[in-house]
Amino acid sequence: MPAIGAYAPGKCILLGEHSVVYHRPAIAIPVTQVHAHAVVTARPTAKPGEILIQAPDIDLQADMDDLPQDHPLVHAVQVVLKELAPIQIPAFLLRITSTIPIASGLGSSAAVSVAIIRAVSTFFGRPLTDPIVSELAFQVEKIQHGDPSGVDNAVIAFSRPIYYVRNLPLEHLEVAIPLTLVIANTGISAPTASVVSDVRNQWQKNPSHSEAIFDAIKNLVNKARLLIENGPIDDLGSLMDANHEYLRGLNVSCPELDHLVASARSAGALGAKLSGSGRGGNMIALVKPAIAEQVSQSLIENGAKSIIITTLEQTG
Ligand code: PMV
Repeated sequence: MPAIGAYAPGKCILLGEHSVVYHRPAIAIPVTQVHAHAVVTARPTAKPGEILIQAPDIDLQADMDDLPQDHPLVHAVQVVLKELAPIQIPAFLLRITSTIPIASGLGSSAAVSVAIIRAVSTFFGRPLTDPIVSELAFQVEKIQHGDPSGVDNAVIAFSRPIYYVRNLPLEHLEVAIPLTLVIANTGISAPTASVVSDVRNQWQKNPSHSEAIFDAIKNLVNKARLLIENGPIDDLGSLMDANHEYLRGLNVSCPELDHLVASARSAGALGAKLSGSGRGGNMIALVKPAIAEQVSQSLIENGAKSIIITTLEQTG
């Protein structure tokens, strides 16, 4: 049997991170310049049921039974096996690689889960639909992040721009005018779970302060949606700037992110903000295509460790 491979893109949150955990909307888009890749190969000479996992990026090679059962890679395989309930499990090798930087707001963990779920289900001859892939990846996310909103697994599984509200049906976004974004990495890795938990502690201590910020973010996400769907997009930049200020109010930025955001604006970006859980990871800047290189150069000069330029293409 030939090897079965599946890719899953990275993602970035255009607007609405953190408040999305509290049932406000977020807008997220796939970032196809980076991806996770899972390949499943049959091992006809090995004992049935023996699953070998290789993840060279994290120096992992192990029999699945020897790994902790709450290991995210193990869990990603197990959710598929539970969903498919196959009569027999042939021995196979699962190899996972990813070009998505870890713990940097680009959806590395959800993309790895989505790629594994797709590759393993296809290997069993029963490829799963996008909604089921998203739901299974969400189950894995819960183990890693405690209380994820579900936005990461949804945008990655569907690989389309989405308007997302927790526990409501997913809405796909139409894009009236292509959007060019420069994504810059601070090089600081910040685990999502601890930042999300700090935001929760603040919310518990002073709910009215946090709730007011969440509501303000909700308003700007809804304004942004109209601009993305109908144009013009120039005002989207100032909504991103405002979102960054509200995220600072939630105490999830850091000096390095603030510096890159300010640098992007000085270099001519229409707007800029941190993206993802913050305290490190990536920031995003909305730019006119003609100045994408100039903004990227300025971000590198101001400390960015890597840059991705991505364009969200017009739909319809
Ligand atoms: O995993 P990250 O860093 O992209 O953060 C996800 C976005 C949060 O809103 C902070 C958390 C969530 O579950 O939505």
